[in-house]
Amino acid sequence: MMPVTVERAGQARRRERCHAAGMSIAAAYAEFAEREARGVSPAYERLAAAVARDEEILALLATLPAAKRQPNLLFGVVRFLGGPADDPAGFHDYAVANWPAIAAEMRVRATQTNEPGRCAALLLALATLPQPLALIEVGASAGLCLYPDRYAYRYGRHALGTGAPVLECAVTGVEPPARLPEVVWRAGLDLNPLDVREPADVAWLDALIWPEHPHRRARLRAAAAVAAAEPPLLVRGDLLDDLPALAARAPAGATLVVFHTSVLYQVPSPRREAFAAMVRDLPGHWLSNDAPHVLHHDGVPHPPSGAAYNVLALEGTPLAWVRSHGQEVTWFGPVPGRR
Ligand SMILES: C[S@@+](CC[C@H](N)C(=O)[O-])C[C@H]1O[C@@H](n2cnc3c(N)ncnc32)[C@H](O)[C@@H]1O
Repeated sequence: MMPVTVERAGQARRRERCHAAGMSIAAAYAEFAEREARGVSPAYERLAAAVARDEEILALLATLPAAKRQPNLLFGVVRFLGGPADDPAGFHDYAVANWPAIAAEMRVRATQTNEPGRCAALLLALATLPQPLALIEVGASAGLCLYPDRYAYRYGRHALGTGAPVLECAVTGVEPPARLPEVVWRAGLDLNPLDVREPADVAWLDALIWPEHPHRRARLRAAAAVAAAEPPLLVRGDLLDDLPALAARAPAGATLVVFHTSVLYQVPSPRREAFAAMVRDLPGHWLSNDAPHVLHHDGVPHPPSGAAYNVLALEGTPLAWVRSHGQEVTWFGPVPGRR
């Protein structure tokens, strides 16, 4: 069997060749339908497959900068504006009739899905570190992943914490934590921080949740209420240029953890590598939960299925496969704290 690191390196090279060759918008939508939406969102699978064949919409998308043409951004903006997502013909008519408003929103917005469910995976590593913790999340969006100590969890039959939201996670290969971490300081860095106290920001986060995921909508509202009660320090800035200054503000006497979830795929490759080198040199720990192709991990086994996974890693050591919303963790690495 081909080692997965080799296979992934091949995928990464193919991806870079596609970008270099200017992968067509139609191909990107067809790939999104097949690889990302299939089995997760029938509505988005249908829409993306239809857009891939829709010369009129493809021509409109081509008028936008390359970084602003993605399916998640288009579909999120159309839903944010009140357009239909359940029927490709209705979507086509709405998009053509309202293109100036759609294009204006796509130019100024970015996909910033904030998924507190990812805390269920982060918690498995955070709980093993020396407490208390000072957390910095880079690419924090509205900062909803900065509250792993405030949410409740169900790892199968193992329950932890009280209140809402309750984050459900199927975990194999490691024992769930016995207690919640103690967080004494939390801060986020983002190119465009969102504010959970602003209804328009919450409406945008809501529009980014895929149509068939009402449980994630409820989770967003519950997590936003937690964050609004004690808003995080959110700093506008770049994860490479501005992290050292923010890290210098962390209190002494707490274990600094810099983490990121589903962020580095938005960062150009040379800057990702510079970030990884820089964060290793900071005092404290580095916890990452990002797509397998964005950091070059060695010794990662095959993922449990063909679904999309992130790799959870501590100090760059891969530990587990994590489904994209934190709903499933398959641990394969050493258990932190017991190495
Ligand atoms: C998909 S969202 C993920 C948000 C959050 N980490 C989560 O998992 O729910 C990615 C976030 O990274 C931010 N981002 C992208 N590139 C960045 C950079 N170079 N510096 C800081 N933030 C960045 C985006 O603005 C966006 O809010």
